[in-house]
Amino acid sequence: MANIHTPIPNLKLNDGNSIPMIGFGTGTAWYKSGDESKIDQVCIDSAVSAQKLGYYHLDGAEVYKTETELGTAIKEAKIPREKLYVTTKVISNISDIPGALATSLKKLQLSYVDLYLIHAPFFSDSKADHQHKWKQMEDLKEQGLTKSIGVSNYFTEHLDFIFETCKIPPAINQIEFHPYLQRTELIKYHKAKGIATEAYGPLTPVTKGGPGPVDDILASLARKYGVNPGEILLRWCIDQDIVPITTSGKEQRLSDYLRAMTFKLNPKEIQQINEAGSQKHFRGFWNHKLAAEDHR
Ligand SMILES: NC(=O)c1ccc[n+]([C@@H]2O[C@H](COP(=O)([O-])OP(=O)(O)OC[C@H]3O[C@@H](n4cnc5c(N)ncnc54)[C@H](OP(=O)(O)O)[C@@H]3O)[C@@H](O)[C@H]2O)c1
Repeated sequence: MANIHTPIPNLKLNDGNSIPMIGFGTGTAWYKSGDESKIDQVCIDSAVSAQKLGYYHLDGAEVYKTETELGTAIKEAKIPREKLYVTTKVISNISDIPGALATSLKKLQLSYVDLYLIHAPFFSDSKADHQHKWKQMEDLKEQGLTKSIGVSNYFTEHLDFIFETCKIPPAINQIEFHPYLQRTELIKYHKAKGIATEAYGPLTPVTKGGPGPVDDILASLARKYGVNPGEILLRWCIDQDIVPITTSGKEQRLSDYLRAMTFKLNPKEIQQINEAGSQKHFRGFWNHKLAAEDHR
Protein backbone atom coordinates (compact mmCIF):
# COMPACT_ATOMS: atom_id res chain seq x y z
CA MET A 1 0.00 0.00 0.00
CA ALA A 2 1.44 3.40 -0.96
CA ASN A 3 1.93 5.55 2.12
CA ILE A 4 1.20 8.99 0.71
CA HIS A 5 1.47 11.99 2.96
CA THR A 6 1.41 14.60 0.21
CA PRO A 7 -1.62 16.74 0.99
CA ILE A 8 -4.53 16.80 -1.43
CA PRO A 9 -4.74 20.33 -2.90
CA ASN A 10 -7.92 22.40 -2.64
CA LEU A 11 -9.62 24.46 -5.32
CA LYS A 12 -11.14 27.81 -4.31
CA LEU A 13 -14.75 28.22 -5.41
CA ASN A 14 -16.53 31.41 -6.50
CA ASP A 15 -18.36 31.59 -3.14
CA GLY A 16 -15.14 31.58 -1.08
CA ASN A 17 -15.35 27.91 -0.05
CA SER A 18 -12.68 25.36 -1.05
CA ILE A 19 -13.06 21.83 -2.41
CA PRO A 20 -10.49 19.00 -2.12
CA MET A 21 -9.18 18.16 -5.59
CA ILE A 22 -10.11 14.48 -5.63
CA GLY A 23 -13.41 12.92 -4.61
CA PHE A 24 -14.53 9.39 -3.71
CA GLY A 25 -17.84 8.63 -5.46
CA THR A 26 -20.68 6.47 -4.18
CA GLY A 27 -22.49 6.21 -7.52
CA THR A 28 -21.81 4.07 -10.63
CA ALA A 29 -20.08 1.06 -9.01
CA TRP A 30 -22.35 1.33 -5.94
CA TYR A 31 -25.57 2.49 -7.63
CA LYS A 32 -28.56 0.44 -6.43
CA SER A 33 -31.16 -0.27 -9.08
CA GLY A 34 -33.35 -2.17 -6.61
CA ASP A 35 -34.49 -1.83 -3.02
CA GLU A 36 -32.81 1.12 -1.25
CA SER A 37 -33.30 -0.44 2.18
CA LYS A 38 -30.97 -3.36 1.30
CA ILE A 39 -27.72 -2.05 2.79
CA ASP A 40 -24.56 -2.53 0.72
CA GLN A 41 -21.85 -3.35 3.25
CA VAL A 42 -19.12 -3.29 0.58
CA CYS A 43 -20.02 0.32 -0.23
CA ILE A 44 -19.81 1.21 3.47
CA ASP A 45 -16.46 -0.56 3.90
CA SER A 46 -15.01 1.10 0.79
CA ALA A 47 -16.14 4.56 1.89
CA VAL A 48 -14.59 3.96 5.35
CA SER A 49 -11.30 2.80 3.74
CA ALA A 50 -11.33 5.83 1.47
CA GLN A 51 -11.67 8.24 4.41
CA LYS A 52 -8.94 6.43 6.34
CA LEU A 53 -6.65 6.87 3.33
CA GLY A 54 -7.36 10.61 3.29
CA TYR A 55 -10.30 10.95 0.88
CA TYR A 56 -12.33 13.53 2.77
CA HIS A 57 -14.27 14.60 -0.30
CA LEU A 58 -17.23 12.21 -0.66
CA ASP A 59 -19.66 12.37 -3.58
CA GLY A 60 -23.22 11.07 -3.18
CA ALA A 61 -26.68 11.52 -4.70
CA GLU A 62 -30.24 10.64 -3.75
CA VAL A 63 -30.61 8.68 -7.00
CA TYR A 64 -27.69 6.34 -6.14
CA LYS A 65 -29.72 5.10 -3.15
CA THR A 66 -26.47 4.87 -1.17
CA GLU A 67 -26.79 7.92 1.10
CA THR A 68 -27.54 5.65 4.08
CA GLU A 69 -24.32 3.73 3.38
CA LEU A 70 -22.39 6.99 3.06
CA GLY A 71 -23.84 8.27 6.35
CA THR A 72 -22.89 5.04 8.11
CA ALA A 73 -19.37 5.18 6.66
CA ILE A 74 -18.95 8.80 7.81
CA LYS A 75 -20.00 7.80 11.32
CA GLU A 76 -17.67 4.79 11.35
CA ALA A 77 -14.61 6.59 10.02
CA LYS A 78 -14.93 9.29 12.72
CA ILE A 79 -13.22 12.01 10.66
CA PRO A 80 -14.13 15.39 12.21
CA ARG A 81 -17.06 16.87 10.28
CA GLU A 82 -15.21 20.09 9.46
CA LYS A 83 -12.50 18.10 7.65
CA LEU A 84 -15.01 16.31 5.42
CA TYR A 85 -16.40 17.65 2.16
CA VAL A 86 -19.73 15.97 1.46
CA THR A 87 -21.72 16.40 -1.75
CA THR A 88 -25.16 15.13 -2.56
CA LYS A 89 -27.51 15.77 -5.48
CA VAL A 90 -31.21 16.07 -6.18
CA ILE A 91 -33.09 14.71 -9.18
CA SER A 92 -35.71 12.09 -8.23
CA ASN A 93 -37.41 14.57 -5.87
CA ILE A 94 -36.70 17.74 -7.86
CA SER A 95 -40.35 18.77 -7.39
CA ASP A 96 -39.54 19.40 -3.70
CA ILE A 97 -35.90 20.45 -3.39
CA PRO A 98 -36.06 21.48 0.32
CA GLY A 99 -37.78 18.17 1.19
CA ALA A 100 -35.22 16.23 -0.87
CA LEU A 101 -32.30 17.81 0.99
CA ALA A 102 -33.97 17.19 4.37
CA THR A 103 -34.34 13.48 3.45
CA SER A 104 -30.73 13.29 2.22
CA LEU A 105 -29.40 14.91 5.41
CA LYS A 106 -31.34 12.41 7.50
CA LYS A 107 -29.83 9.48 5.59
CA LEU A 108 -26.35 11.03 5.75
CA GLN A 109 -26.83 11.74 9.49
CA LEU A 110 -25.54 15.27 8.89
CA SER A 111 -26.87 18.74 9.64
CA TYR A 112 -25.47 20.24 6.41
CA VAL A 113 -23.67 19.22 3.21
CA ASP A 114 -20.74 21.06 1.70
CA LEU A 115 -22.13 20.96 -1.83
CA TYR A 116 -25.65 20.39 -3.10
CA LEU A 117 -26.11 19.84 -6.85
CA ILE A 118 -29.07 19.63 -9.20
CA HIS A 119 -28.08 16.29 -10.75
CA ALA A 120 -29.23 17.00 -14.31
CA PRO A 121 -31.15 19.69 -16.22
CA PHE A 122 -33.62 17.37 -17.95
CA PHE A 123 -36.49 17.93 -15.54
CA SER A 124 -37.76 20.83 -17.70
CA ASP A 125 -37.13 22.78 -20.90
CA SER A 126 -38.67 25.88 -19.38
CA LYS A 127 -36.43 28.80 -18.44
CA ALA A 128 -38.84 29.81 -15.66
CA ASP A 129 -38.68 26.31 -14.13
CA HIS A 130 -34.88 26.39 -14.08
CA GLN A 131 -34.85 29.81 -12.50
CA HIS A 132 -37.42 28.79 -9.89
CA LYS A 133 -35.46 25.65 -8.93
CA TRP A 134 -32.26 27.67 -8.65
CA LYS A 135 -33.96 30.11 -6.28
CA GLN A 136 -34.80 27.13 -4.05
CA MET A 137 -31.14 26.09 -4.11
CA GLU A 138 -30.13 29.63 -3.09
CA ASP A 139 -32.56 29.51 -0.17
CA LEU A 140 -30.96 26.28 1.09
CA LYS A 141 -27.52 27.87 1.00
CA GLU A 142 -28.83 30.92 2.84
CA GLN A 143 -30.31 28.63 5.51
CA GLY A 144 -26.89 27.01 6.02
CA LEU A 145 -28.10 23.56 4.95
CA THR A 146 -25.45 23.49 2.22
CA LYS A 147 -22.23 25.51 2.07
CA SER A 148 -22.17 25.66 -1.74
CA ILE A 149 -24.66 25.06 -4.54
CA GLY A 150 -24.11 23.87 -8.07
CA VAL A 151 -25.33 21.73 -10.94
CA SER A 152 -24.37 18.63 -12.88
CA ASN A 153 -24.66 17.71 -16.55
CA TYR A 154 -25.75 21.27 -17.43
CA PHE A 155 -25.23 22.79 -20.89
CA THR A 156 -24.37 26.45 -21.36
CA GLU A 157 -28.03 27.08 -22.26
CA HIS A 158 -29.23 25.98 -18.78
CA LEU A 159 -26.44 27.90 -17.08
CA ASP A 160 -27.48 31.00 -19.04
CA PHE A 161 -31.03 30.62 -17.67
CA ILE A 162 -29.64 30.63 -14.12
CA PHE A 163 -27.32 33.58 -14.70
CA GLU A 164 -30.23 35.72 -15.88
CA THR A 165 -31.84 35.80 -12.43
CA CYS A 166 -29.49 34.31 -9.84
CA LYS A 167 -28.31 36.05 -6.68
CA ILE A 168 -25.73 33.29 -6.11
CA PRO A 169 -24.05 31.81 -9.20
CA PRO A 170 -23.49 28.05 -9.42
CA ALA A 171 -20.14 27.16 -7.82
CA ILE A 172 -19.67 23.94 -9.81
CA ASN A 173 -20.87 21.98 -12.83
CA GLN A 174 -20.11 18.25 -12.43
CA ILE A 175 -19.76 16.69 -15.90
CA GLU A 176 -18.30 13.62 -17.57
CA PHE A 177 -14.78 14.66 -18.51
CA HIS A 178 -11.74 12.72 -19.73
CA PRO A 179 -9.43 12.83 -22.79
CA TYR A 180 -12.14 11.29 -25.02
CA LEU A 181 -14.71 13.87 -23.86
CA GLN A 182 -12.93 17.19 -23.39
CA ARG A 183 -15.96 19.52 -23.66
CA THR A 184 -13.64 22.36 -24.71
CA GLU A 185 -16.34 25.01 -25.27
CA LEU A 186 -18.16 24.21 -22.03
CA ILE A 187 -14.91 24.37 -20.03
CA LYS A 188 -14.15 27.77 -21.60
CA TYR A 189 -17.61 28.96 -20.57
CA HIS A 190 -17.08 27.67 -17.00
CA LYS A 191 -13.79 29.58 -16.77
CA ALA A 192 -15.32 32.77 -18.13
CA LYS A 193 -18.18 32.58 -15.60
CA GLY A 194 -16.07 31.47 -12.59
CA ILE A 195 -17.71 28.02 -12.38
CA ALA A 196 -15.46 25.17 -11.22
CA THR A 197 -15.57 21.87 -13.12
CA GLU A 198 -15.82 18.45 -11.50
CA ALA A 199 -14.98 15.45 -13.70
CA TYR A 200 -16.80 12.18 -13.31
CA GLY A 201 -15.63 9.12 -15.24
CA PRO A 202 -12.05 10.50 -15.25
CA LEU A 203 -10.55 7.03 -15.73
CA THR A 204 -12.67 6.19 -18.78
CA PRO A 205 -9.69 5.80 -21.20
CA VAL A 206 -8.29 2.98 -19.02
CA THR A 207 -11.69 1.43 -18.24
CA LYS A 208 -14.65 1.24 -20.60
CA GLY A 209 -13.28 3.78 -23.12
CA GLY A 210 -10.10 1.85 -23.96
CA PRO A 211 -8.15 0.85 -25.90
CA GLY A 212 -7.50 4.12 -27.73
CA PRO A 213 -5.15 6.83 -28.96
CA VAL A 214 -4.05 8.05 -25.50
CA ASP A 215 -2.76 4.63 -24.40
CA ASP A 216 0.84 5.16 -25.57
CA ILE A 217 1.25 8.62 -24.09
CA LEU A 218 -0.34 7.49 -20.80
CA ALA A 219 2.03 4.49 -20.66
CA SER A 220 5.06 6.64 -21.35
CA LEU A 221 4.10 9.29 -18.72
CA ALA A 222 3.28 6.53 -16.22
CA ARG A 223 6.83 5.17 -16.69
CA LYS A 224 8.31 8.65 -16.33
CA TYR A 225 6.48 9.42 -13.06
CA GLY A 226 6.50 5.85 -11.65
CA VAL A 227 2.70 5.60 -11.43
CA ASN A 228 -0.19 3.85 -13.24
CA PRO A 229 -1.90 5.34 -16.34
CA GLY A 230 -5.00 6.02 -14.20
CA GLU A 231 -3.02 8.34 -11.97
CA ILE A 232 -1.84 10.27 -15.05
CA LEU A 233 -5.52 10.77 -15.96
CA LEU A 234 -6.36 12.04 -12.46
CA ARG A 235 -3.38 14.42 -12.57
CA TRP A 236 -4.37 15.59 -16.07
CA CYS A 237 -7.64 16.83 -14.52
CA ILE A 238 -5.98 18.41 -11.46
CA ASP A 239 -3.40 20.25 -13.57
CA GLN A 240 -6.27 21.86 -15.50
CA ASP A 241 -7.96 22.94 -12.22
CA ILE A 242 -10.63 20.28 -12.70
CA VAL A 243 -11.67 18.14 -9.72
CA PRO A 244 -11.78 14.39 -10.56
CA ILE A 245 -14.42 12.23 -8.85
CA THR A 246 -13.33 8.62 -8.94
CA THR A 247 -14.08 5.48 -6.95
CA SER A 248 -12.84 1.98 -6.27
CA GLY A 249 -13.81 -1.01 -4.18
CA LYS A 250 -10.12 -1.90 -3.96
CA GLU A 251 -8.10 -0.31 -1.18
CA GLN A 252 -4.86 -0.77 -3.14
CA ARG A 253 -6.25 1.20 -6.06
CA LEU A 254 -7.55 3.99 -3.82
CA SER A 255 -4.13 4.19 -2.23
CA ASP A 256 -2.39 4.21 -5.64
CA TYR A 257 -4.65 7.03 -6.92
CA LEU A 258 -3.17 9.29 -4.23
CA ARG A 259 0.17 9.12 -6.03
CA ALA A 260 -1.46 11.61 -8.40
CA MET A 261 -0.69 14.18 -5.68
CA THR A 262 3.06 13.56 -5.87
CA PHE A 263 3.92 14.95 -9.33
CA LYS A 264 2.77 17.54 -11.87
CA LEU A 265 2.35 17.24 -15.62
CA ASN A 266 3.97 20.01 -17.64
CA PRO A 267 1.92 21.98 -20.22
CA LYS A 268 3.46 20.03 -23.12
CA GLU A 269 2.40 16.70 -21.55
CA ILE A 270 -1.13 17.99 -20.96
CA GLN A 271 -1.23 19.11 -24.59
CA GLN A 272 -0.02 15.70 -25.83
CA ILE A 273 -2.87 13.99 -23.94
CA ASN A 274 -5.37 16.57 -25.26
CA GLU A 275 -4.26 16.06 -28.85
CA ALA A 276 -4.23 12.26 -28.69
CA GLY A 277 -7.57 12.24 -26.82
CA SER A 278 -9.28 14.46 -29.35
CA GLN A 279 -8.82 11.72 -31.98
CA LYS A 280 -11.54 9.66 -30.31
CA HIS A 281 -14.99 10.44 -28.92
CA PHE A 282 -16.45 8.32 -26.13
CA ARG A 283 -19.31 9.08 -23.74
CA GLY A 284 -20.08 6.58 -20.97
CA PHE A 285 -23.07 8.27 -19.29
CA TRP A 286 -26.32 10.02 -20.28
CA ASN A 287 -25.81 9.19 -23.99
CA HIS A 288 -29.53 9.48 -24.73
CA LYS A 289 -29.61 13.07 -23.41
CA LEU A 290 -26.17 14.55 -23.91
CA ALA A 291 -24.45 13.10 -26.96
CA ALA A 292 -25.54 15.96 -29.24
CA GLU A 293 -23.86 18.46 -26.88
CA ASP A 294 -20.41 16.87 -26.86
CA HIS A 295 -18.90 18.90 -29.66
CA ARG A 296 -20.28 22.25 -28.52
N1 LIG B 1 -23.19 13.53 -11.95
C1 LIG B 1 -23.36 12.43 -12.65
O1 LIG B 1 -24.26 12.33 -13.52
C2 LIG B 1 -22.42 11.28 -12.42
C3 LIG B 1 -22.37 10.22 -13.35
C4 LIG B 1 -21.45 9.19 -13.11
C5 LIG B 1 -20.65 9.20 -11.98
N2 LIG B 1 -20.73 10.23 -11.08
C6 LIG B 1 -19.91 10.24 -9.82
O2 LIG B 1 -18.55 9.98 -10.17
C7 LIG B 1 -18.07 8.85 -9.43
C8 LIG B 1 -16.99 8.14 -10.21
O3 LIG B 1 -17.49 7.73 -11.47
P1 LIG B 1 -16.79 6.55 -12.28
O4 LIG B 1 -16.95 5.29 -11.49
O5 LIG B 1 -17.24 6.54 -13.67
O6 LIG B 1 -15.25 7.01 -12.19
P2 LIG B 1 -13.89 6.45 -12.78
O7 LIG B 1 -12.85 7.00 -11.87
O8 LIG B 1 -13.75 6.78 -14.22
O9 LIG B 1 -13.96 4.88 -12.69
C9 LIG B 1 -13.86 4.22 -11.45
C10 LIG B 1 -14.12 2.76 -11.72
O10 LIG B 1 -13.06 2.29 -12.57
C11 LIG B 1 -12.61 1.03 -12.12
N3 LIG B 1 -11.17 0.97 -12.44
C12 LIG B 1 -10.20 1.78 -11.99
N4 LIG B 1 -9.01 1.48 -12.54
C13 LIG B 1 -9.24 0.43 -13.36
C14 LIG B 1 -8.42 -0.33 -14.23
N5 LIG B 1 -7.12 -0.10 -14.34
N6 LIG B 1 -9.01 -1.32 -14.95
C15 LIG B 1 -10.34 -1.57 -14.83
N7 LIG B 1 -11.18 -0.87 -14.01
C16 LIG B 1 -10.64 0.12 -13.30
C17 LIG B 1 -12.90 0.99 -10.63
O11 LIG B 1 -13.22 -0.36 -10.31
P3 LIG B 1 -12.64 -1.15 -9.02
O12 LIG B 1 -13.65 -0.99 -7.94
O13 LIG B 1 -12.52 -2.54 -9.54
O14 LIG B 1 -11.31 -0.52 -8.66
C18 LIG B 1 -14.12 1.90 -10.48
O15 LIG B 1 -15.31 1.16 -10.48
C19 LIG B 1 -19.31 8.03 -9.15
O16 LIG B 1 -19.14 7.17 -8.05
C20 LIG B 1 -20.30 9.14 -8.85
O17 LIG B 1 -20.14 9.59 -7.51
C21 LIG B 1 -21.59 11.27 -11.29
